[in-house]
Amino acid sequence: MCGIVGYAGGNDKNIVDDSDRALVVALNGLTRLEYRGYDSAGIALCTRPSNILDDDSASKSYLQVRKKAGRLKNLIDEIETHPLLPAQTSIGHTRWATHGEPTDFNAHPHISNDLRVALIHNGIIENASKLRQALEERGVHFTSVTDTEVVVHLLREELRFVEDDDNLRKKTKYPLTHAMQRVVKQLNGTFTLLAVDASFSDVIVGAKHDSPLVVGLGDGENFFGSDVVAFIEYTSNAIEIQQDQIVTLTSNDVVITDFDGNLSTGKHFTVDWDVSAATKSGYKTFMEKEIREEPKAVADTLLGRFDETTGCIKLDKVPHDVNAFEERLRTINKVIIVACGTAAYAGLVARYAIEHWCRIPVEVELAHEFRYRDPIVNSETLVVSISQSGETMDTLMAQRYASEQGAQTISICNTKGASIVREADGVLYTRAGLEVSVASTKAFVSQITAAYLLGLYLASIRGNKYTDEVLEIVDDLCEVPDKIQELVDQFESISNLAHGLRDIKSVLFLGRNIGYPVALEGALKLKELAYIHAEGFAAGELKHGPIALIDANMPVFVILPSLSRPQLHAKVISNIQEIKARGAQVFTIADAQDIQAHEHATFTIDRPIVPSLLTPLLDIVPLQIFAYALATSKGLDVDKPRNLAKSVTVE
Ligand code: AGP
Repeated sequence: MCGIVGYAGGNDKNIVDDSDRALVVALNGLTRLEYRGYDSAGIALCTRPSNILDDDSASKSYLQVRKKAGRLKNLIDEIETHPLLPAQTSIGHTRWATHGEPTDFNAHPHISNDLRVALIHNGIIENASKLRQALEERGVHFTSVTDTEVVVHLLREELRFVEDDDNLRKKTKYPLTHAMQRVVKQLNGTFTLLAVDASFSDVIVGAKHDSPLVVGLGDGENFFGSDVVAFIEYTSNAIEIQQDQIVTLTSNDVVITDFDGNLSTGKHFTVDWDVSAATKSGYKTFMEKEIREEPKAVADTLLGRFDETTGCIKLDKVPHDVNAFEERLRTINKVIIVACGTAAYAGLVARYAIEHWCRIPVEVELAHEFRYRDPIVNSETLVVSISQSGETMDTLMAQRYASEQGAQTISICNTKGASIVREADGVLYTRAGLEVSVASTKAFVSQITAAYLLGLYLASIRGNKYTDEVLEIVDDLCEVPDKIQELVDQFESISNLAHGLRDIKSVLFLGRNIGYPVALEGALKLKELAYIHAEGFAAGELKHGPIALIDANMPVFVILPSLSRPQLHAKVISNIQEIKARGAQVFTIADAQDIQAHEHATFTIDRPIVPSLLTPLLDIVPLQIFAYALATSKGLDVDKPRNLAKSVTVE
């Protein structure tokens, strides 16, 4: 969940004109990556003064390092106070602490005792304490309590080994590459590493195992990033680094090998969104921008999915032998959805539709619980992972476990080239575009949309749905963006409702049937944005305990079932009456023209009419706006809520 950026610029771009491009690129990258973690930040620049450019004596190059706890602004202020000289290469890191408090010492980059090597890391080294003990016994001095510092000292030792060995030294232009190949074999856990060597100021060496790493290809300059947003303003030409690869990157060369040093290749792709997606486009917050982008996110996710000739939905990635893949999907007897947080609630929504359309059981499992409960998973199971980032370690490990048990896997993901995508048999991308705000909004509605498409794909290849039936549902889905827009247009009125409740201490959210996961997600939004206690309940559960919580100080949001489900609707109206009888305010989301809702509720938000199974795509929007407005009315940072990171890439 840390943000990583690297830059290697040509001599003519840096040293001759003394530009600070290496610094600017690193800081811009960290600014765009700050959503991945922001409790400390740091950079290392590798400098070789212009007056010795043609001098072979490497000893004249040197490292410059600045790192500070707290937000990126603290680092920028530090650099203004203690300016840096122009450099050829730079690496930058913004951190979400796993090992050790967010302090200046624990901030990355970490540096070898002789200031020769600097290193940044995203992930967790699980055998760090054992390695640290051995290093300390060999006299290495540590300045932090992080797992990452162990790696930089190991790297320095291996660099010494490589330089002392004539054969090894002759094998590679940059000893750091060979040293990295030796280090990664000693590490257990997950890592993306970037390292620079003061003796070779033009190179950065990166390594990837389980954590994300992409390369950006520029003109006379090249880039590293934990995702493409790190360098999107400079190039859209990218390479996705694969599992267990090492990259030696200079201004005009990118050499990829496996951990044994055998030449390898990454996967080239073009980034299909522009830098404006990484800015707020005039809105005060990314979150408001992204809520307002929800109609487009759903529309884009639906675009071009239906194959008129086959009458089937098209996935973005299927195995080479698609017939065998689809034949196996016809024989599965269970679907398990694995995800975390909001993505898991999208899975809970999708379960209602997939079971209704495909008539096979669908289980939804929190990814971090899944593989430790000895689940029944085999070749007749389809495991679907849902992940916006595609880097959530819990979900990646759950999907990997499912594959090991022989299950087919399909990933619903918003990030091209992500680790979860690469390991899945099939992929269906959400097309929400970049989601910067930590709170998942447009990704959530896109995940539900994609999961519905997957359900229709399964129903059509398994023969549960005819083409015309699939088309009918796709047509209903295609009307959803405009109906979401009708709710987004109520941004101000819903915000005013929130402002009137800014002093509340706790809120309940109730939903029934497909509205129940919406209640859970509505509660999560309020918790993570406004830091207010909130709980989502199945409405039928109310009288089995939670009703004891109800009083005049406990406002309750109720997601009313569609009028097309009269039996469920009547039960929830009764719940509303029970709540009102105990003095609580009731806010409902209900079908437009739901007279009873208006009759019984304190305030009702009208839901444009859609088929019952599609109501979550609409109902969540007012709850997102409500949580957003309440948090901003309290002066909270909705884009970077305390203690949270956009992608949790550690277990
Ligand atoms: C929700 O607002 C949070 N951002 C969080 O629950 C998130 O949905 C969860 O961590 C899963 O992330 P992913 O979709 O990137 O896997």
